[in-house]
Amino acid sequence: MKQVLAGVVIAAFVILPWRTGMGNTVAHAAGGDARKGKAVYEKSCVLCHGPQGRGDGPVGKTINPPAADFTSAASKKKTDAELLATIETGRPPTAMVGWKGQLSEAEIQDVLAYVKSLRQ
Ligand code: HEC
Repeated sequence: MKQVLAGVVIAAFVILPWRTGMGNTVAHAAGGDARKGKAVYEKSCVLCHGPQGRGDGPVGKTINPPAADFTSAASKKKTDAELLATIETGRPPTAMVGWKGQLSEAEIQDVLAYVKSLRQ
């Protein structure tokens, strides 16, 4: 019985702060900086997605399927989580590769914020 109690206490101290920490990450996720994201976008994404995010960059319009047009109705319906998942892990078998590891977490959040700013 004592061991069970100790287990619960340990779980409370180990798991709760961890979960709270995760919460902070999600809160931060919503707060990417679009201005910083623009620089990331111009370096890593613009050749495919184009300067206005219409999928018409010099490379993006030549590939099949073409790069996603962020201003399309279908793309505007995507949630932050869906866009984030595509940026992080890519969309095989299209030319969209995953950027996790290539870009830092902060850069990914910033570029996500910039992508969303192109939707208007
Ligand atoms: C080599 C070309 C290429 C590059 C570089 C590229 N993408 Fe893509 N991207 C694509 C293609 C192709 C798709 C998928 C289109 C489809 O599914 O029809 C895509 C899809 C996406 C989507 C999903 C959009 C939606 O509506 O579902 C997001 C978000 C995205 N890219 C963001 C980025 C970001 C951010 C970068 C830079 C870090 C980037 N892409 C770099 C080609 C590219």
